[in-house]
Amino acid sequence: MFVVRWGGVLRAWRNACPHVDGAPMAWRKDAYLNADGSRIVCHAHGAEFLPDSGMCVQGPCVGKRLTAVPIVIDEHGDLLVAEE
Ligand code: FES
Repeated sequence: MFVVRWGGVLRAWRNACPHVDGAPMAWRKDAYLNADGSRIVCHAHGAEFLPDSGMCVQGPCVGKRLTAVPIVIDEHGDLLVAEE
């Protein structure tokens, strides 16, 4: 999974592109955003996703979404995966 802070909100996404299920997305370690930081990008075929909804808006999987991972921040400020 990877976490993006967007508009002051943390969102976690499964590191798997909906174009080819299970395909990791980063183009190098911890690099998930495009050059201006406005979209999440899959390095494999260039799909672009909105950071707040995970919706693919450009590339081979337009209309599909990243899979959200539920997270919480505990009383110590640690980020945890929430139980569903
Ligand atoms: S595997 Fe992500 S765009 Fe093809």
